[in-house]
Amino acid sequence: MSAGNSEQIAEWNGALGERWVAMRQEIDRFVVPFGDAALKAAAPQPGERVIDVGCGCGDTSIEIARMVGAAGAVLGIDVSQPMLAVARSRGALANGAPLDFRDGDASEAALPANTDLLFSRFGVMFFSQPSPAFSHMRKSLRAGGRCVFACWRTPRDNPWAMTPLSAARAAMGVTPAPADPNAPGPFAFADEVRLRAILSDAGFGAIDVQRFDAAISIGATPRSAAENAVQIGPVSRLVREVGAEHLPTILDAVERALVPLAAPDGHVSLNGSTWIVSATNPA
Ligand SMILES: C[S@@+](CC[C@H](N)C(=O)[O-])C[C@H]1O[C@@H](n2cnc3c(N)ncnc32)[C@H](O)[C@@H]1O
Repeated sequence: MSAGNSEQIAEWNGALGERWVAMRQEIDRFVVPFGDAALKAAAPQPGERVIDVGCGCGDTSIEIARMVGAAGAVLGIDVSQPMLAVARSRGALANGAPLDFRDGDASEAALPANTDLLFSRFGVMFFSQPSPAFSHMRKSLRAGGRCVFACWRTPRDNPWAMTPLSAARAAMGVTPAPADPNAPGPFAFADEVRLRAILSDAGFGAIDVQRFDAAISIGATPRSAAENAVQIGPVSRLVREVGAEHLPTILDAVERALVPLAAPDGHVSLNGSTWIVSATNPA
């Protein structure tokens, strides 16, 4: 196991990975608009060789495999055994295009050479040393090959995550301890200046960072949105910290906070804000 990323690897093989598997369909619905924006920027072409970094349950790997077709090849790489098991069970959905899933830490695993595209939907923010990790991945690209990924922008502009979290914290009387905003985790690449520096230190050129926002439907009712929030995202982490006995209080508090934000039919949609990042391995 990679020493540097061992904490994240343990998380994605523990309760976190299991919850992602259990909620795969809901999560996929949340993140599809952002993955689609990244796929549009990446524009995989028939015959291309692609690596999907942090491929999770394989949704984007399968989609890309269909795009590159039988003449291309896709490798989904991930550290999470439960998520890879789901990905492998769904491989046939690639309609016969060459698609393989590998268990490995993308920051150090052997990767296929002469790759055309490194792609990721929210799978690259978990490296303890991001520049060396991107430098390692860049070396798998052919000259002129591209790297395209989606990552979250600042928590402030992501109320889908922060509104439920603020309500849960208030209900528990929890004041967040000062934390390193750049620590491995969903918001590690929020700072655009840092993000650009990571890629440029890793040897990438033509770095382009575009903001992309979309509404995320977090639940059909405030109650179901609260139920989703305690399963995934930052509220689930808080529940683990304070103890499951506080779950009913947290659920009620999150539901109350979401009621005024619900549409007339009860649906709760809140903004999600991302960077769609593109960079090239210099020729
Ligand atoms: C937020 S999930 C995204 C999953 C998937 N890309 C999706 O959009 O559904 C992050 C993924 O990155 C994976 N991951 C975290 N650290 C990794 C590493 N060092 N190497 C490869 N995958 C990693 C996790 O196991 C997890 O599947």
